Amino acid sequence: MKLFIDTADIEEIRTVARWGVLDGVTTNPSLFAKTSGHTYDEVLQEICTITKGPVSAEVIAEDVDGMLREGRHFAKLADNIYVKVPMSETGLEAIARFRSEGIRTNCTLIFSANQGLLAAKAGASLLSPFVGRLDDINQDGMTVIRELVSIVEIHELETEVLAASIRHPLHVTQAALAGAHVATLPFKVFQQMVHHPLTDKGLVQFRSDWDKARTALEAGAGTPAAAGTAG
Ligand code: E4P
Repeated sequence: MKLFIDTADIEEIRTVARWGVLDGVTTNPSLFAKTSGHTYDEVLQEICTITKGPVSAEVIAEDVDGMLREGRHFAKLADNIYVKVPMSETGLEAIARFRSEGIRTNCTLIFSANQGLLAAKAGASLLSPFVGRLDDINQDGMTVIRELVSIVEIHELETEVLAASIRHPLHVTQAALAGAHVATLPFKVFQQMVHHPLTDKGLVQFRSDWDKARTALEAGAGTPAAAGTAG
């Protein structure tokens, strides 16, 4: 399963890239609005120097010509740009046009398996069902992931299901078990996945035992083996 980071914050992207677990990046207008000092183009170009994986750049236009203009522009910024297009009648048309031009797309704002099926047929490379926003309105977001993964597999569609709007680590586990090809996570969720209270407790215990062994050795009462190994 691929893991993308859902952010436009360069330092967050660099951090997860250093961990060796970064497969790509998703951005959107809301995430870009949290950055400052650079244009969207500049941010996208910087991100594309950090990862060679897919980097999603979202169009703002609502008409087909506008989407095509913005998407073609993004696609020229770097080879790994995927144009993010919202699910709509005009969005589907734009996705089909991008497909014929060899520009890869990520269909966003998907909330049902049928929307995902349409986006796949139009030619989207990535389908982004929003799990958290469905949960927010008391619908099971993970059901859409499961349904869409099954549809893609049964009909051998050339696309990938990207679990988006991930809010906590349990969403990641559930998306992985549901067979999502990708999940895009906020930086905070990456950090939450790293930590476990027993890991933290174990580290404190190891450090404490190590210090005790060193102290005992220095006092002439310890064993050389205890002080010479990291445990
Ligand atoms: C990613 O492509 C989506 O834009 C993002 O995951 C949406 O997340 P949110 O519902 O937490 O805003």
